Formats: sequence, structure tokens, C-alpha cells
Amino acid sequence: MNNIVVIGSCNIDITVLASKRPAAGETILGTGLNISPGGKGANQAVAAAKLGAKVTMVGCIGNDAYGQMIKDNLHRYQINTDYLITLDNENSGTAHITLAEGDNSIIVLSGANAHVSKDVVDKAWDAIEKADLVMVQNEIPLPTIGYITEKCAKNGIKVLLNPAPAADLEAQWLTNATYITPNEHELAALYPANNTEDIILANEGKIIVTLGSEGVAYAQDGELRRMRSFKVTPVDTTGAGDTFNGAFATAIVNNKTIEEAVHYGNAAAALSILKLGAQEGMPTAAEVTAFLAERS
Ligand code: RIB
Ligand code: NA
Repeated sequence: MNNIVVIGSCNIDITVLASKRPAAGETILGTGLNISPGGKGANQAVAAAKLGAKVTMVGCIGNDAYGQMIKDNLHRYQINTDYLITLDNENSGTAHITLAEGDNSIIVLSGANAHVSKDVVDKAWDAIEKADLVMVQNEIPLPTIGYITEKCAKNGIKVLLNPAPAADLEAQWLTNATYITPNEHELAALYPANNTEDIILANEGKIIVTLGSEGVAYAQDGELRRMRSFKVTPVDTTGAGDTFNGAFATAIVNNKTIEEAVHYGNAAAALSILKLGAQEGMPTAAEVTAFLAERS
């Protein structure tokens, strides 16, 4: 069992490297350009596939050069694109990224990703119902997330909901999801009135909170656990969270415990940020094993 279906976004990331961010009204000269596949959905699909999972990508792309790049890239990692729909009258999703002063800022144009509807989910149901785990993120229309979590819960299919970027989702959708992996800001958007520790403790086995370079928080045996991240010098943190999710999911479908899956996710995420681009640094299973041997 290692069959993962990702229902989510596919983008092309257009990253400009600069020594600083321009102020409003200011023009500066950049130092580099990187155009590469991204999108939270596709990133998580590639992360899992590189680690050996059998992955199907469900989503929408435009009938344009970027759409072709997205599809070719998924095929490069043996990801099934039978349920990836090409739309004639939409652009493929793009993310416009500035990488400066050690951090990124991103503007996403959803394009075709805004058309990942209930109908797209229904068309892919043959694949979804055979999945050991379905992965979703907040880069598709939110009602579709409600639909996926409900339909999967009714059919006993596990769903990993990565609620990024931050949005206020309906409580029932959270109940229906099997795993939820927010960062601190996304957690606050989901449970505005609650204290972080209380939410994690009340959702043992379900909510896993990523804290960037501070590691990951989750509950085990009624106690709050925090697993530290691996210290590396980052080149590009874009997609680090996606790598964590893809690796966590791969470990889960391989019957690992949450603790083991978090450890695996942390290692994969650390390796992924050593290279420019969301997917370029995503490791293979052998690379994660070598890294863990070296760091233990
Ligand atoms: O999570 C990183 C991703 O977010 C990037 O690849 C970009 O496409 C944005 O969607
Ligand atoms: Na990277």
C-alpha cells in the first residue's frame, strides 16, 4: 500500500533573485531568474513520487506552454496524469516569487487551478477510491475541499489536508479530514479562539503543526511533542512545507507512526531547501536514508 492521490494546484514558479525587495515605486536590478514547476499540489505529488510512492495528480492546467511543462514534469516522476484536465480558455497557474534577503514572497495567479471543481473530483473518483491516502491543499476552490473531505470520509478514504495558504475552513471539513498539517498561522486561521497547545492535544493523531526551522509539534500519549528540524543553510525554502507533507504522507502509507513520519518529513524538507526551486532539491528515499545516517 503506497497509493497516493493528490487533488490540488499545479503552477509554474517564476522566481526572481535579488539582493533586496524593491520598495513601492522603486526599480532595482535583479541577479537571477529561475522558471520551474511548482504549486502546492504538484510539489507534494513530486515529493511523494521521488520517495517511492505511486502517485496520481488530479487538477487543471491551461492549454499553453506552461501546462505542457507541468505535465512533462509530472511524467518525469512517473506521476499518473490521467485525471489532470487541460482547459482551453484558462492560463496555467503561475507563482511570481521574489527571493531576497534569505526569504521568499509569493503572488499566485490561480488560473486553471480555480477550476478544480467537484466535477473534476467526481471524474477522478476511480483513482480516488483506490487511494491509501488523498492529499489536498488550499490552492483549489475551498468548496471542493469540503466536498473531498466529506466524500472521502463517507467512503472510509483517508485524507491529509494541508491547509495552506491560510483560510478559515468549516469545522466539519476538519472533522472529516484524517490528518491536518498547518503551520502556526494556518492553525490560527482554522481555530481562531483556541490556544495552539490545547488544539494539538485535543487532536492527537490528527493535527501536526509545522513550525519552520523550529520543527514540528504534535501530540502523543496525551503529551505535547516537538521534534526539532535538521539545521542546514538554506538556498531556497520554497516548497519546504510541501516536501514535508509529501514525505510525511509517504511514510504514513508505508505504515509508519506519526513520530516516524514527522522525522522522515523533517529530513526530506531539510534536503529540499539546499537547492533553488520548489522541486529541484526534493530527495529520493536513498538520499533521505543517507542524510539520516550522517546526522544520527
Ligand atoms: O508551497 C510552495 C508553492 O506555493 C510554490 O511552488 C508556488 O507555486 C506556490 O503555490
Ligand atoms: Na528547493
